[in-house]
Amino acid sequence: MADSKRVLVAGATGYLGKFAVKAFKEHGYQVRVLTRDEKRLYEPGPFTAPAISKDDVDDVFVGEISKPETLGGLMDGVDLVFSSVGISRQRDGLTFEQVDYQCNKNLINLCQPSGVKRFVYVSMQGAENIMQLAITQAHEKVVALLKDSGMEYRIVRPCGYFSDMGVLLDMAKKGRAFMIGDGNNKMSPIHGRDLAEVCIETAEGDEIEVEAGGPDIMTQREAAKLAFEVVGKPVKITVIPMWAARGMVKFIGLLSTQFGDLAEFIVTAGEIDGVGPARGKTSLRNYLEALHAGDPNP
Ligand SMILES: NC(=O)c1ccc[n+]([C@@H]2O[C@H](COP(=O)([O-])OP(=O)(O)OC[C@H]3O[C@@H](n4cnc5c(N)ncnc54)[C@H](OP(=O)(O)O)[C@@H]3O)[C@@H](O)[C@H]2O)c1
Repeated sequence: MADSKRVLVAGATGYLGKFAVKAFKEHGYQVRVLTRDEKRLYEPGPFTAPAISKDDVDDVFVGEISKPETLGGLMDGVDLVFSSVGISRQRDGLTFEQVDYQCNKNLINLCQPSGVKRFVYVSMQGAENIMQLAITQAHEKVVALLKDSGMEYRIVRPCGYFSDMGVLLDMAKKGRAFMIGDGNNKMSPIHGRDLAEVCIETAEGDEIEVEAGGPDIMTQREAAKLAFEVVGKPVKITVIPMWAARGMVKFIGLLSTQFGDLAEFIVTAGEIDGVGPARGKTSLRNYLEALHAGDPNP
């Protein structure tokens, strides 16, 4: 059944998107990717996301998702759209509203006249608890658009990705980890490869909104300690107090709304729990050990 379906993957140059492209292909889909830079598809992605090979994709559509006039024909023959387009690192000087909301809105608008049957969108776990943040507002505006679209939709709500855990290993290797707040908030991060499988199950399943975390629930402090254990160095953690981090966010926000909004999200994530149902299988220990051992696919 799946092999007769064509999926459009938007966000395919990103951490989750690269795993998603491979997973859709492995599940027998015809895969079209939207990218603004084809070359970057075939390079390894951020934080150990795999390079996509030419065998992973059936066709590549080069266009600017922010410019609908470059997207003519994008949805031709497409049954399913998967989008993990959003800002997780600031590259273009754009706001969450401009990228996470407006770019996804552009895609949704193109679906309606094209007969796309289902749209799978990646938002975030626990959004309802942090609706004061620009990133959450943008994500949830996309969810609201989908609800009103009349199109079938699915929402994946992941906890933090292992991409962020690689940063802990880098700090441990250098001998000191920096942590915003006391690090006692709980999280259950998930591997991008496992999350991509959840995305496909969600795309094919009946559950409308699916939360997804990894197999381990731990505090940020425990995760940092694990990273030191993996690299075989003594635990050295420097805490950046929340008041100082909040002060920095305010200062950054005065210089740049875009960087300020991203910094506010990062700081807020340092004080709230981010735990979801255990849908991922890869333990953080296994991932960090493989990463430290130089495994190309940790
Ligand atoms: N990281 C986490 O822990 C986490 C947790 C829950 C939910 N999420 C959400 O999951 C989604 C995917 O995360 P990720 O880590 O895979 O993100 P990522 O690695 O930064 O990838 C984001 C994708 O969006 C595209 N994009 C960003 N700005 C764009 C622009 N101006 N024009 C066109 N394309 C643009 C990127 O394309 P280029 O490569 O061309 O820039 C890339 O393909 C995000 O919406 C994020 O908020 C993340």
